Amino acid sequence: MARLTEVRDADDPRLADYRDLRDVQLRTHLEAEHGLFLAEGEKVVRRAVEAGFTPRSFLMAPRWLDGLADVLAAGDVACYVVTEALAEQVTGFHVHRGALASLERRPLPSLDEVLQDARNVLVLEDVVDHTNVGAIFRCGAAFGFDAVLLAPRCADPLYRRSIKVGMGAVFSTPWTRLADWYDALPDLSARGFTTVGLTLAEEAAPIEQAVAGLDRVALVLGSEGHGLSARWERSADRRAVIAMREGIDSLNVAAAAAVACYVTVRRSLPTPA
Ligand SMILES: C[S@@+](CC[C@H](N)C(=O)[O-])C[C@H]1O[C@@H](n2cnc3c(N)ncnc32)[C@H](O)[C@@H]1O
Repeated sequence: MARLTEVRDADDPRLADYRDLRDVQLRTHLEAEHGLFLAEGEKVVRRAVEAGFTPRSFLMAPRWLDGLADVLAAGDVACYVVTEALAEQVTGFHVHRGALASLERRPLPSLDEVLQDARNVLVLEDVVDHTNVGAIFRCGAAFGFDAVLLAPRCADPLYRRSIKVGMGAVFSTPWTRLADWYDALPDLSARGFTTVGLTLAEEAAPIEQAVAGLDRVALVLGSEGHGLSARWERSADRRAVIAMREGIDSLNVAAAAAVACYVTVRRSLPTPA
């Protein structure tokens, strides 16, 4: 059973994991240094714990205790009970879903483990916005994608905003970071995937054609600003575009992921030899 501990002082050092949650730089540093991440909201906290992540502590206002009673009953860990005003003072924003948990990060699995038995995977190059990363994980989960692979500079899917927007899809989706940016796509091709770069390049084929008849597919998405790097665009096996009305520059990367995942899972499959 969690140890319920009332805390009345915003400077109490036991609340250190929950400080200044809106300061992305500070949080990125602190979370990496201490190997932790934050989950926010009853559903997401529950999903994190159910996925086997070890809580370091919980922070919540009294009215959220009942909703998470079963989660709190499961472990011997501190639950700091604070007023909503104090939670706001510590975190720097109004925690309207009332429940926060600080959890231990786990070592990332190897590429071999993540790709075992995978047929459809998403590969994100330098997607830098945490909200987009979360939304893309959610798309992948919704359309039954088997894994997500992240380039070294892609934003952290365990950052609080990513987890929240993804509704915890990062807990149920196998994912890892690619160690070798330069040869990432040729390596996936060597593992039997056809890499399909989502791009607005002129020679790109309509996405429906690009994925038709493929067995194992890696859909590759580029960054919000400049899209795919020249290296990744060139080294993808195929280039695909989602047709848009004339005059529109591009789709938001998460919207592009949703369309591309939808089309990919409905593609015709290779005819057996
Ligand atoms: C906002 S877009 C980047 C736009 C960038 N200026 C470019 O020319 O690629 C971010 C990513 O979403 C994907 N994307 C957005 N719209 C797309 C479309 N209509 N067709 C294919 N991919 C698209 C691509 O992977 C792109 O790298």
